[in-house]
Amino acid sequence: MEHIILIGGGGHSKVVIDAIKTSRQFDIYGILDSKSPKGTHVLGVKVIGSDVLLPQLFKKGIRNAFISIGSIGDCRHRKMIYNKLKKIGFSLPVIIHQKAVVAKDVHVEEGAFVAAGAVINPGTKIGRNTIINTSASIDHDCVIGDFVHVAPGVTLSGGVRVGGYTHIGTGANVIQYIKIGKCCMISAGAVVYHNIRDGQKRL
Ligand SMILES: CC(C)(COP(=O)(O)OP(=O)(O)OC[C@H]1O[C@@H](n2cnc3c(N)ncnc32)[C@H](O)[C@@H]1OP(=O)(O)O)[C@@H](O)C(=O)NCCC(=O)NCCS
Repeated sequence: MEHIILIGGGGHSKVVIDAIKTSRQFDIYGILDSKSPKGTHVLGVKVIGSDVLLPQLFKKGIRNAFISIGSIGDCRHRKMIYNKLKKIGFSLPVIIHQKAVVAKDVHVEEGAFVAAGAVINPGTKIGRNTIINTSASIDHDCVIGDFVHVAPGVTLSGGVRVGGYTHIGTGANVIQYIKIGKCCMISAGAVVYHNIRDGQKRL
């Protein structure tokens, strides 16, 4: 198994670690997190330092990295780490929990994460580094941009478009063929039945 390094040791990292361990896709080398003390563990995986170690780890031969930092509305940190990883030369694989259901023709771009219980139906595209969180349901022909977070329990009906950097809050429901712009915040539990312009917050 190839090694993978995780960036971020908070709550979301537990979900990512569980998905990687159950799929046996990679051997997790360690976690980089500047806030957690070095030597502590998350689900048995050691925090080995901060992201300043990235070039060193790449030189050592580790080629895979995954961003296990969550986000609620502000994806700038995830984007910054993404750029750093790409500049060094890391590959960012797609991680899909083995209990997620993803139709065969779904296109998922690098660094995206699909959590347990999520269902993604045919014709859908998922952008770079996007999170499709626990039990989210993405129906047919949706187009989800880069660095989006579709939080747990969200339902997107068929043909929904979501612009980059948008957060769709826990349990929100979106009816068919709605267009949600870039950098939007859809609040937890919202029902969306009108298009949402770039940068809009929808309570
Ligand atoms: C919408 C949201 C971003 C607002 O956060 P905020 O800017 O900190 O706002 P506040 O909590 O101060 O609330 C502001 C007002 O909006 C209301 N409000 C907050 N969240 C709401 C929601 N989901 N639906 C309806 N009203 C909401 C509050 O009751 C408050 O109203 P008031 O001023 O009349 O008391 C936040 O509540 C939310 O839904 N976040 C998404 C959480 C999520 O998806 N988590 C996923 C984790 S994996």
